[in-house]
Order: sequence, then C-alpha cells, then structure tokens
Amino acid sequence: MKIVTTIKEVKETINEWRARGLSVGFVPTMGYLHEGHASLMKEAKKQTDKVAVSIFVNPTQFGPGEDYDAYPRDLDHDAAMCEAEGVDLIFHPSVEEMYGKNYNTYVNMETLGDELCGKSRPTHFRGVCTVVTKLFNIVNPDKAFFGQKDAQQFVIIKRMVKDLNMRVEVIGCPIIREEDGLAKSSRNTYLSAEERQAALILSQTIALGLDMVKNGEKDVNTLLTAMKEKIETEPLAKIDYVEVVDGETMQKVNTIEESVLVAMAVYIGKTRLIDNFMYEF
Ligand code: PAF
Repeated sequence: MKIVTTIKEVKETINEWRARGLSVGFVPTMGYLHEGHASLMKEAKKQTDKVAVSIFVNPTQFGPGEDYDAYPRDLDHDAAMCEAEGVDLIFHPSVEEMYGKNYNTYVNMETLGDELCGKSRPTHFRGVCTVVTKLFNIVNPDKAFFGQKDAQQFVIIKRMVKDLNMRVEVIGCPIIREEDGLAKSSRNTYLSAEERQAALILSQTIALGLDMVKNGEKDVNTLLTAMKEKIETEPLAKIDYVEVVDGETMQKVNTIEESVLVAMAVYIGKTRLIDNFMYEF
C-alpha cells in the first residue's frame, strides 16, 4: 500500500493502473477511520480492482466555531486499517496541496442544502461538494463509496455527479452501528462515558420513528412530535433538528407517501451527532 501526499503522485499511480486496464474504487474520508469506513473499503474491494482512500480533514466544510481543529486525527491507526482492508493507495494531502495560494473556486447546491444539516451548517455542503469534486478530478475513480449516515451528503453528491455529468458512479452503503445501536462516527470519540450512554437516544428514536412509519403513520407532525418527545426524555440531549424531507429533493413534506428521509441532529453535551432512516414505498 502506497501513502502519498501530492496530487501528482496520485495521478501517476492511477494512470499506471488505468494503463493496465484496472478499475478504480474510491473512498473519500476525513480519517479517524472506524468500521463504517471499513465497510466502504470492503465494498470498493468487491466492486473494483484497485482501491484508493483519501484522508483529508477538509477545512472548507467546517463553519466558524465548529470542530475543525479538534477533529480527531491518527494517520498510523488509519493506515493500519486501510492496510488490513487491502487498500492500494492512501492520499493524505496537506491543506496547501488542496487549497493553494489564491484558491477561489467552489461548487454550490441551489436548494438541496437548505434543510437538515445545511440549515445549521450553511457553508458545509459547499465545502463538501468542492472537495469531493476536486478529489474526483484528482483520483478519477470509476466508483466512489459513501456512507448513508450522512444521508443528505449522499443525496447531494449523487445529484452533483448527475448535474455536472461526472463519470463516476456513486454508491451508498448502509449505516454501521455499535452493538447497542449507536451509529459509528469519528465524533463518538468526543463523548464521555455518561454521554456515550445518553447518545443511545438517537438510535432509539430512529427505531421508534421507523416503527411508526412501518405501522402506517402518514402524518409528519404526529411522527415528529413523538420523536422529539422521546429525545427530550434524555436530559443530556438537545435537539438541533428532527425533520422529514422528500428523499430526492430534500424539501420538507407534510405527509409520508413517497420516499422520505427522516433525519436528526442532536447535541449530546457539546457533541453534535446525526442519525437517520430512509423509507421507500
Ligand atoms: O463524509 C466525509 O467524511 C466527508 O464529508 C467527505 C465526503 C470525505 C468530504 O470531506
């Protein structure tokens, strides 16, 4: 497995693979890898000949006052996990390599970032779309693999690839959870033991919501009231949002009748965690 830091080295390696007729799978990450990321690498390994992983804590997707500086980083641990998963190439660039002097270009969504995470993090998806576009241009993958814990991100990237006629195929992989239900996230590391316990309220509320929808609940207000009441039973939890949006347009709906995304962001102490479920009829 190669670990490279420059765009030039990535392009040389990938060109060499392509010259040999090999297909390329790509898993973009911000590092501090966990089993959620490993599941993406496994899927990439299954579907493509060579697998490239990027590890880059992307400053443009963090807003002022967010956790860019505190975001956990551990390249040795990440490299060991990639090696164990049979990854062929890690791209670990510096901020200067990705956003050089006089950097000026961004990729923006019109409305897909209006609700959910985009509401409380107004510049987040602009940063995500920009860095993912850059990474796609650098790596030039056949397939790219994203986790569905970041459901809005997944929908946005699929839309961007379609709208901008990018050649990559975007593949979504299911949320990976701890045994007790908590969705795996690099940010879980911020939680104290007491907060870790309290964080179960997210997955428990997701389970409640899913049950209600499966049992025929169509009214978004009724669903959201029940979900919010459940979250409020946990004293350490503070709701950022709980919303039901159309699975494709990401705009709010009042009735559950087409494919929907039910998503939440909840602060447990100072840590903001997300969870969701998609429901298709
Ligand atoms: O999901 C993530 O870890 C990031 O948003 C991504 C896609 C790697 C872009 O920085």
